[in-house]
Amino acid sequence: MLSKKIEDVLNDQINAEFYSAYLYLSMEAYFESANLPGFANWMRVQTQEELTHAMKIYDFVNERGGTVSLKSIAQPPTKWQSPLAAFDGAYEHEQSVTGRINDLVNLAVKEADHATNTFLQWFVNEQVEEEKSANDIVQKLKLMADAPGGMYMIDQELGQRVFTPPAAEGV
Ligand SMILES: [Fe+2]
Ligand SMILES: [Fe+2]
Repeated sequence: MLSKKIEDVLNDQINAEFYSAYLYLSMEAYFESANLPGFANWMRVQTQEELTHAMKIYDFVNERGGTVSLKSIAQPPTKWQSPLAAFDGAYEHEQSVTGRINDLVNLAVKEADHATNTFLQWFVNEQVEEEKSANDIVQKLKLMADAPGGMYMIDQELGQRVFTPPAAEGV
């Protein structure tokens, strides 16, 4: 059984994951309008991943006998100055999500809720990947965006990303 406090923060995290999906979907729209289909594809896959994060927590709350309560999702930004600005935003966002996950773990430890703590470890590891993948693209853009054909090459590369459902990752 979940404590009321843990239930509340998990419900907040479901909302935060949906916001992440919304943010990346908004970035997808920006890249579509900038005629960068590979960047847009990367953001679509990212959106799908965020939806699986939300659903993972949703299922966990139910499994533990808690009650899911969905809240409004805040409006994400709709415009960025450049592809680099969008990926800077994505990297910053992932760092803030990592902070949230760490706060959640701290609370689970404080309440000696070992099941929630164990559940959250998947997210702790996932955030390492999330920060790395956003930052890798930030660095690539800094190196290559001004080079001849650089944006085209990055767009081709990001177009290769494919969504892998969590079950297929063995999670
Ligand atoms: Fe997430
Ligand atoms: Fe994320």
